[in-house]
Amino acid sequence: MNIILFGPPGAGKGTQAKRLEKSRNLIQLSTGDMLRAAVKAGTEYGKKAKDVMEKGELVTDEIVINIISDRLDEADVKAAPGVIFDGFPRTVAQAEELDKMLDSKGMKLDGVVVLDVDDEALVERITGRYTCAKCGKGYHDTFEKPAREGVCDECGGTEFTRRADDNEETVRSRLSAYHAQTSPLIDYYESKGIVKKVDGMAAIDDVTRQIEEVLDSLA
Ligand code: AP5
Repeated sequence: MNIILFGPPGAGKGTQAKRLEKSRNLIQLSTGDMLRAAVKAGTEYGKKAKDVMEKGELVTDEIVINIISDRLDEADVKAAPGVIFDGFPRTVAQAEELDKMLDSKGMKLDGVVVLDVDDEALVERITGRYTCAKCGKGYHDTFEKPAREGVCDECGGTEFTRRADDNEETVRSRLSAYHAQTSPLIDYYESKGIVKKVDGMAAIDDVTRQIEEVLDSLA
């Protein structure tokens, strides 16, 4: 089963994708994570993406399409029961390329799960987000704290990081980019009859339950 987890910055795509990896053995394909890894490694794509990401704008379609296409050809993805696209596609051009790409690889999209969240909640979610530096588990200052303060629940790590683009000014440009370039994709997928909306304002566990129900209905 291949799905897109769709929603604005901070909607909970990454949080929920990690849970679905565990419950369904699906593989999370996050273009944001891939781009951050490229920036860290100083690759050609990373150098081109760095400034754009820090401003909260979208990286070129060409770069993200190439990184997704290469990732879909890797052995672990081919062997998995399906993938979760997280943060991709983000423009109509990316969605059209994804259709072609999946066709050529003998894959299909089963559903687009849209996380509906009010804009006002997103800034609070993003500015309070932090991640375990060792295993990448995500937390929030208010909404998802580790059981023991300062110690990661997953790996026991004690170092945490915050993303360079998780400040209020950049979040506001990311939201503008979402409304201008990405939200039109909901109509694109509505026309294919594969959109499933869930209430992303609910508590994290409730959102997971709603998504699991959607995936059960698609299976
Ligand atoms: P990317 O990394 O994709 O960021 P994003 O879309 O802005 O999404 P986030 O990762 O910020 O949010 P999320 O929905 O995953 O929320 P999370 O689960 O962490 O992209 C970054 C940049 O890369 C872009 O700006 C762009 O420059 C570039 N880029 C990436 N893909 C691209 C593409 N395809 N094309 C062009 N450019 C691209 O949750 C947020 C916080 O809220 C967490 O702390 C979490 O604990 C908490 N939380 C989650 N759910 C809930 C809940 N239900 N209730 C309360 N708190 C919650």
